[in-house]
Amino acid sequence: MLWQNPCVPETRILEVADDEIKDAVVAACALLRAGEIVALPTETVYGLAADAFNPAAVAKVFAAKERPSFDPLIIHIAARGDLKNVAIVPDDIAETVDKLTKAFWPGPLTLILPKHPAVPDLVSSGLPTVAVRQSAHPVFRAVNKELGRPLAAPSANRFGRISPTSASAVMKELGGRIPLIVDAGACAEGVESTIISIEPRVGKKPIFRLHRAGPITKEQLQEFGKIEKFREIQATAPQAPGQLASHYAPLTPLILLENPADFVPETGKKYGLLSYTGDDDGPYVTLHDWDVIESLSPGSGKLAEAAIRLFFVMRLLDEAGLDAIIAEPVSETGLGVAIMDRLRRAAANF
Ligand code: TXA
Ligand code: MG
Repeated sequence: MLWQNPCVPETRILEVADDEIKDAVVAACALLRAGEIVALPTETVYGLAADAFNPAAVAKVFAAKERPSFDPLIIHIAARGDLKNVAIVPDDIAETVDKLTKAFWPGPLTLILPKHPAVPDLVSSGLPTVAVRQSAHPVFRAVNKELGRPLAAPSANRFGRISPTSASAVMKELGGRIPLIVDAGACAEGVESTIISIEPRVGKKPIFRLHRAGPITKEQLQEFGKIEKFREIQATAPQAPGQLASHYAPLTPLILLENPADFVPETGKKYGLLSYTGDDDGPYVTLHDWDVIESLSPGSGKLAEAAIRLFFVMRLLDEAGLDAIIAEPVSETGLGVAIMDRLRRAAANF
């Protein structure tokens, strides 16, 4: 049965124009102050926000998403100076944190740092660390600032499902479960923030453990530290479901076809192609008489556009009544690392 928030018979969508965000900020803050949860746009994907210092409100986030309590949330702060209220930055990485936050905040870089005791354990799922970022979205920032408190906000989808990059996608995921969705149009980045933790080294640049690839690329981070994959040192179970093999998944089976020659269609089945450019002469488009083709970056093949459209296109194909979605890989450089990471996790169920 669908989980129903007893206090929320109906979900309201409030559209905001670029130059008129005040009403939405007032409405969102009134609900957040009352301990409610609100879907807000960020530059990456839509987030489901709660006052991070209110455990009862944070509990509603877990309930609405059907998220297991062992999967910690990201805390969003309004200003760099607020970091000290949610995390305790050790002296040996203080300079690095300073450089990273000056270079990439506000923006899609999340840092895992030792948790401040004031942060409820529910937010960090009992971990001694907390994930923190400062969103660059004008609406999210304005709500964060007006509320005067940090916001705990995971992506506004049900657990394990496709992250929402529009208000209508949030409605499909959480309609009837939350009182308000603030609609500021499509998200500018389209994939979730890059997540790293920092390990200091004496006399050398620190090591950055990449917990999740995202819009801030390895190439951009390299100036500040040495990037190593988080999973390479993780011999046992993942610490958090964002690292689970299966995540960001459509309900329709998705197959990531690294080699076109491996495709063996079954007769009578409907297949859709998740193409990169949709090139008519390309090895993927010509492979089969597809029931539907959707392209990440039609014609041009730009990774930034592909990232923005990724979850939108996944959702379109998921709703197309197919037996399977066949996904074409993109080149694994820059933003392509984050896109391939999401495609692999979407494919991992099947
Ligand atoms: O772009 C984003 O990061 C979006 C927007 C809304 O800000 N948020 C987002 O949150 O993607 P969520 O909950 O869908 O993903 C957060 C990830 C999860 O994989 C979680 O396990 C991981 O961050 N995480 C949170 N705290 C952590 C911690 N202390 N240690 C390791 N991983 C952590
Ligand atoms: Mg998520």
